Amino acid sequence: MQTAICPGSFDPITLGHLDVIRRAAAMFDRVVVCIVANANKHGFFSLEERREQVLRVTAGYPNVDVDVWDGLLVDYAARFEQPVVVRGLRALSDFEYEFMMALTNKKLNPRVETVFLASDERYTYLSSSMVKEIAGFGGDVSRFVPEEILEDLKKKINGRNS
Ligand code: PNS
Repeated sequence: MQTAICPGSFDPITLGHLDVIRRAAAMFDRVVVCIVANANKHGFFSLEERREQVLRVTAGYPNVDVDVWDGLLVDYAARFEQPVVVRGLRALSDFEYEFMMALTNKKLNPRVETVFLASDERYTYLSSSMVKEIAGFGGDVSRFVPEEILEDLKKKINGRNS
């Protein structure tokens, strides 16, 4: 059984992330969305909030699981028989960082393959940072994030501004 790991911060999950997860779920037996803690960044949403959000938006995909990990991605991937890391590539600007990450992971554990999916053209410009910035200024992000998490964003921003 081939498991694909879709790792990321997902802070918050965007329609671009969801598109990559959906396409990976159509290609692999099983997909695990791995929400990875970032030692250098304090999250906008907590890891548990993100886990709950990703679970909510992927509820319709029977072969998708969600997990949280605080450590090296290769250490997480090592628990699977034939681990494949799936990352979306939006633009050329993503390439250098993604390529470096894929090669580093391969050095750390040669069993871990990385596969890139070209981002859907609707989402090539989209990022979680942009979503947070727009939402923070009261802008409409309904075209950028799954409907199921719009309310969470509003609540978080209102909570921060009050
Ligand atoms: O959504 P992001 O922030 O682009 O995801 C980046 C992520 C979480 C996949 C990456 O930072 C990662 O794998 N972090 C775990 C720590 C690790 O393994 N670092 C070595 C990779 S070169």
